Order: sequence, then C-alpha cells, then structure tokens
Amino acid sequence: MNNLHEIARDLAVPGKGILAADESLKTAKKRLESVGAEDNEENRRMYRELFFTADGIGDYLSGVILFDETFWQKSSDGTPFVKLLESKGVMPGIKVDMSTAPMPNFPGEEFTQGFDGLAQRLEKYVEGGAKFTKWRNVIRIGDTMPSDMNLREMAIGMAHYAAAVQAVGMVPMVEPEVLLEGSHTIEQAEEVTTKTLQRMFEEIKNYNVDVAGLVLKSSMVLAGDKAPKQSTPEEVAEATLRTFEASVPEEVPSIVFLSGGQTTQQATDNLQVIAQKNNGPWQISFSYARALQGPSLTIWAGKSENIPAAQEKFIERLKETAAARDGK
Ligand code: 13P
Repeated sequence: MNNLHEIARDLAVPGKGILAADESLKTAKKRLESVGAEDNEENRRMYRELFFTADGIGDYLSGVILFDETFWQKSSDGTPFVKLLESKGVMPGIKVDMSTAPMPNFPGEEFTQGFDGLAQRLEKYVEGGAKFTKWRNVIRIGDTMPSDMNLREMAIGMAHYAAAVQAVGMVPMVEPEVLLEGSHTIEQAEEVTTKTLQRMFEEIKNYNVDVAGLVLKSSMVLAGDKAPKQSTPEEVAEATLRTFEASVPEEVPSIVFLSGGQTTQQATDNLQVIAQKNNGPWQISFSYARALQGPSLTIWAGKSENIPAAQEKFIERLKETAAARDGK
C-alpha cells in the first residue's frame, strides 16, 4: 500500500475523526463576534490553541484541517501548531481553496476560487508538514438549482485540484457540500447529492486521480433546514448510504461528514445510525467544525479564564462524536 493510500485510510480509522479548524478569516470573524470576542489575529490564534492543546485530543482525532493563517502560527510556548499536532499523533491538513464567489449568469450559485498559484502554495504546505488538503465547492438546492453548469464546473475543478495535490504527495479531501439551507425534501437532497457525487467521480477518473488515495468529505442526505418535514436519523442513514452506494467508487477508503449547520445533537445521532447501518466498503467518520467547536466557543467567549472549561467541553464532544463514529 502506498503512502497516500495509508494516509487516506488512517484519516478515518475506527474511534477517530477530523476536526475542521479551517474557517476563513471571514467565517472566523463571524464565529468570534457571535460570542462577543474581538476578531483579531491573536484571538484567532488563542481560539485554535484552545482546541490543539486540549488534553487527549490524539485519542479521538486523526487529523485537523487548518487555514493558512493558523498553519503558520505557534502556541503560547512557541511550538508551531503543526509540530504540536504531529507530537500528538494528529495529522495536519490544510484548506487550499480560496473560498467561493457568485457564478456569473447563475443567480444563487457559486464557484470555488483558488487555482492561481495553487502548485506553488501546495509546495509550501508540503514543506511545512501538511499531509492532506481540503477543497470545498457548494451546491445549492432550489427550483432551478443546481444547474448543469454548476455541477460541470464543480466536477472539473475538483478533479483538477485532486490531481494537483496527489502530484506533490498529499492526500486530497474533496468536499462538494450540498447545502442544508432551504425547504427541500430529503428525496430532493438524495437526488442532488447522488448526481453531484456521480459527476465529480466521473471527472476524477477522467483526470487519472488515484481514488484510493483521496478522502470524500460529504454532506449527509437530509431535508432542508426550512422543510416542514424534518428527517429522522433512520431516514438520514438510509438515504445517505443509498446515495454513496449509487455514486462512490468502492476503492475510496474513507468518507467523512461535515456538520453543515446541523445541531450538535443531530450531527451525533445521524452519524451513529449511519455507522450502525454502513455495510459499504468505506470507513465512515466525521470532519466537523461547528458540531465539535460550537459548545466550547460559547463557553470560551474570548476570555482566557474560560479556557479550561471550554477544553473540557471539547473533549466531551470529541468522545461523544468518536463513539457515534463507531455506532455507539
Ligand atoms: P461544519 O462542520 O461547520 O459544516 O464545517 C465543516 C467544514 O469544513 C465545511 O467546509
């Protein structure tokens, strides 16, 4: 087994998953200000340090996805975050897309930026110790969405990105996020997610990407957050696994979920039932940001005296989520 295959598999080993700590500057500002903390570089650093220095994260985390600013930052004792994570047996990863922008002529739809200078940025991250990368596209469900053009652009972009990342020896995580926002039914979410993943893997194969050396980061399949009928964990698990069955090549070693605005409880319960029902060839785990960080963010609120309590809450969330990953 080559190194990329091993890393892709190890990122979703039983009992462990991934922390997404790769919020862009814009999203980090939103999170910090939501609890009354000032948005500045030092507060963003402290916020990340809270998670990375929590005692025992290595028992539950296989990897952490970082944002460029965080990737080069250090903890208070001067240890670079990348080294700190490595010392805990946690693989450092890096978000390499440059966020989304409105798609001209397709109101409501977005494309992902970041191809300019990508090869040079990837080289820097490899030298800096990154083992894997993330690229996110967003797909919105609506009357006329997603358009065929949005899916085409997503699929080719994702394949191009994955090929570029494997070429420099890192594992690409491909994340076509089907947004939870909207009043769509679970059936519509299943149809759109299936089509999205089918189109993406078709182009990934056309680009000669090694699918055994990548990780799929997917949305769960569920009704929109404004749908009158919300989905039960049973429904979510069945629809999500049917979707993967219809669209994910069996050589893909690992599938991880984003939480996408689900509550912490929903994200945990849905993951647990998916894990229980999964008979597919893939390992399935988590790669949450909000569903892991949210409760600790509220406790911390930008105050250093709250760090121990926020860390304790984080470990509790990790324990629950890792147990759900194992179907417990
Ligand atoms: P959430 O779990 O908050 O959706 O974030 C995961 C992520 O990385 C989205 O790109």
